[in-house]
Amino acid sequence: MKISPLLALFLASRTLAFPSYASLAGLSQRELEDIIPTLQYQPPPTPPGPLSDTSAKLVNDKAHPWKPLRPGDIRGPCPGLNTLASHGYLPRNGIATPSQIITAVQEGFNMERSLAIFVTYAAHLVDGNVITNELSIGGKSPLTGPDPPAPAIVGGLNTHAVFEGDSSMTRADAFFGNNHDFNATLFKQFVDYSNRFGGGKYNLTVAGELRHQRIQESIATNPNFSFVSPRFFTAFAESVFPINFFVDGRRNDSQLDMATAVSFFRDSRMPDDFFRGNGSRGGEGINDVFKAYPIQPGYNAGKINSYTVDLTSADFSSFCLLYINFVNQTIKGLYPNPKGILQQALNKNLDLFYEGLGGVNSGCSQVFPYGQH
Ligand code: HEM
Ligand SMILES: *[C@@H]1O[C@H](CO)[C@@H](O)[C@H](O)[C@H]1NC(C)=O
Ligand SMILES: *[C@@H]1O[C@H](CO)[C@@H](O)[C@H](O)[C@H]1NC(C)=O
Ligand SMILES: *[C@@H]1O[C@H](CO)[C@@H](O)[C@H](O)[C@H]1NC(C)=O
Ligand SMILES: *[C@@H]1O[C@H](CO)[C@@H](O)[C@H](O)[C@H]1NC(C)=O
Ligand SMILES: *[C@@H]1O[C@H](CO)[C@@H](O)[C@H](O)[C@H]1NC(C)=O
Ligand SMILES: *[C@@H]1O[C@H](CO)[C@@H](O)[C@H](O)[C@H]1NC(C)=O
Repeated sequence: MKISPLLALFLASRTLAFPSYASLAGLSQRELEDIIPTLQYQPPPTPPGPLSDTSAKLVNDKAHPWKPLRPGDIRGPCPGLNTLASHGYLPRNGIATPSQIITAVQEGFNMERSLAIFVTYAAHLVDGNVITNELSIGGKSPLTGPDPPAPAIVGGLNTHAVFEGDSSMTRADAFFGNNHDFNATLFKQFVDYSNRFGGGKYNLTVAGELRHQRIQESIATNPNFSFVSPRFFTAFAESVFPINFFVDGRRNDSQLDMATAVSFFRDSRMPDDFFRGNGSRGGEGINDVFKAYPIQPGYNAGKINSYTVDLTSADFSSFCLLYINFVNQTIKGLYPNPKGILQQALNKNLDLFYEGLGGVNSGCSQVFPYGQH
């Protein structure tokens, strides 16, 4: 049997196996046939239920101390998940199952359960390993030893253009080389905008201004800028997350101070004595951010300042299309013709993703790219 170039790359070093948390998305039929038998199939379990008590409480507690990174620990573009890993709500190495993520975002930040399920399975389907049920919250663990890391697999939430996308507040566009580490220049702008529009705090007014600024910057500097669904939605959602999740639950003013902001964004660290928000929450305020400077989904057409509206992308008036395109185009594009346990695993994860959307109550019909099962 001929061995595919990708597997050959791993076998060449002998010490390396295909990482159990690396995504299988986009691999050829042959690569899949080589790799899947080396992995242990973990059928996706039923997602964890809601919290029984959603009140504000101390979450930077004795059982969840912040600890610095050890060599090999993975962090990525999401300050929320990074923080949960650095406090032990998620495995500190940065490799987690979807259920662990759904539990951690509820317990640590009071994220509303169906939103947590929807976002987590969206990310897992495109960036996780659906056979082993593991997802990296960043890239690959840096490998130590004599063998160089295999460059072919980025994997995890760092993967550009399927979930992670352009015009983040504190991470640069992938085009500039690093889409996942804290960027001090961009954070300076976050502080500057908070000073100019929020009296030194990040609030919904700042969120609207900074979101617009980051989009305008990408249009003016990134010839490859892309701002279509799902990034079109996640960009606006992530603009309100610092207000909804990083403000101490004993306050009710929705104003985030800069010491707290830098602690989460840069250090993946909850302030001492931090209380999670009071009551479960999600994307409250997103409409205010969008309405401050409405824009249609689009992209730069290969050069700067060439923003072109993309009428095929979902927008705020066509929410079901976000779901349909993500499943029928993005996921189907990454897995055109899955067979056996891969097809089974994808179908189960797609069911859970639809459940997170709200199931039939969402008003969106389920789509079945791999047949009804
Ligand atoms: C439920 C599972 C979650 C997943 C899978 C997830 C994933 C991600 C990803 C991939 C990004 C990068 C997007 C980009 O900028 O290109 C991101 C950004 C972000 N996430 Fe999460 N996230 C989750 C939950 C949370 C929670 C609970 C919080 C807050 C506590 C949070 C806060 C943020 C913020 C503020 C950003 C924007 C960073 C920036 O623009 O600089 N996320 N998330
Ligand atoms: C930080 O972001 C700026 C603006 O996008 C970019 O020009 C710069 O290269 C980034 N710095 C690093 C270290 O990635
Ligand atoms: C350029 O844009 C395309 C389409 O969004 C994307 O697939 C690719 O990863 C992007 N490359 C960079 C470096 O941003
Ligand atoms: C944000 O802060 C500024 C300055 O204090 C204030 O004028 C503005 O009303 C605040 N916006 C919100 C939504 O709290
Ligand atoms: C949380 O909100 C409830 C009312 O919804 C209130 O009674 C309670 O005091 C609040 N808790 C804190 C810590 O602010
Ligand atoms: C916020 O808390 C203050 C007291 O700390 C209280 O007077 C006020 O009514 C609360 N506002 C809301 C919207 O809950
Ligand atoms: C999604 O794809 C499936 C199979 O590929 C097809 O039957 C279905 O009509 C598509 N749904 C939509 C809404 O495009």
